[in-house]
Amino acid sequence: MTWLLLAILAALPMPGTQFKQLPDSKGKAEIEHACYTCHSPDLLAQQRLTPKQWTATVEKMMRWGAELKESDKQVAIDYLSRHFGPENRFTPTATTPMK
Ligand code: HEC
Repeated sequence: MTWLLLAILAALPMPGTQFKQLPDSKGKAEIEHACYTCHSPDLLAQQRLTPKQWTATVEKMMRWGAELKESDKQVAIDYLSRHFGPENRFTPTATTPMK
C-alpha cells in the first residue's frame, strides 16, 4: 500500500506552499464564503479586472453556484475592484522546491 500513500502525498501541495491571504477590508468575509469553495485566494488575487468586468465575473460565478446573497453582491464587487483592478501587481506564490 506504500504506492497509494505516495500517490496521495504527490497530489498534495508541497509542504511550505502558502496561499496569499486576501487583504482585510469590507467584503472580505463575503468573498471568502462565496468563492473559496471553488477557488484559492490566488486565483482572485491575480486578476486585473475593471469594475465592469468584476460585475460580469461575479454574476457568472453566482449563476454557477457561488453562495453570495443578492444583497452582498455589490460589496463583493467593490472589494474585488478595489484590490484587484487593472493596477494590481500580483507576485505568484513561492513554493518550496523539491530537494
Ligand atoms: C461552484 C464553483 C465556483 C464558485 C463558488 C466560484 N467560481 Fe469562479 N470559476 C469557477 C470555474 C469552474 C472557473 C473556470 C471556468 C472559466 O474560466 O470560465 C472559474 C473562473 C473564475 C475566474 C477566472 C476568470 C474567468 O472569468 O473565467 C475568476 C476571476 C473567478 N472564477 C472568480 C470567482 C469569484 C470572485 C467567486 C466568488 C464570488 C467565484 N469565482 C466563485 C467556479 C466557481
